[in-house]
Amino acid sequence: MRRPLLLLLLLLPLAACDDMTAQPKRNAYADPSVAPGRVPTDSVSWRDHSTAPPPLTLALIERGQQRFRIDCTPCHSELGDGNGMIVQRGFPQPPSYQEDRLRAAPPQHFYDVITNGHGAMYSFAQRVAPEDRWAIAAYIKALQRSQHAAIADLTAAERAALP
Ligand code: HEC
Repeated sequence: MRRPLLLLLLLLPLAACDDMTAQPKRNAYADPSVAPGRVPTDSVSWRDHSTAPPPLTLALIERGQQRFRIDCTPCHSELGDGNGMIVQRGFPQPPSYQEDRLRAAPPQHFYDVITNGHGAMYSFAQRVAPEDRWAIAAYIKALQRSQHAAIADLTAAERAALP
């Protein structure tokens, strides 16, 4: 008496099996509510290039500082000496921005490194919009200058105020 009941219980789940190809489904190409995927406006595509560097303003440098702190300091550190937290935890150490070669490098070089990556550093093209690459490049040039200011950079009044 028990066996047929057990058999029935075992077979019962099979009744739920269905040929999935026969199920109704959405046609991604025909249904406007499904396709094609919208590109979020704040994402950057790999080949996005801005035409020319924007004019150098304080606002640009401040924007660059803010983006630099978010995207670059984990490895390059606030000082740009390449001793960021990720490096302290074992990531390959980047060169200091105070190397002569990098101090002589134009903003375009920093723009290109952000866009294409460089050696062990991966590209940030997907994360940093072209305008922000210029902003970061401008900030790095200011950061380099801030640690290598010459007396000649000061105005006469500032020089007179020196102790
Ligand atoms: C995950 C760590 C990491 C982050 C984040 C990072 N970098 Fe780097 N960066 C490196 C490493 C490592 C190198 C050295 C790569 C090599 O020479 O193989 C490097 C090298 C560089 C160089 C030197 C290139 C040269 O000519 O030698 C520049 C400039 C640079 N990075 C800029 C940036 C900027 C700007 C950002 C932020 C948008 C950034 N990096 C974010 C790891 C990082």
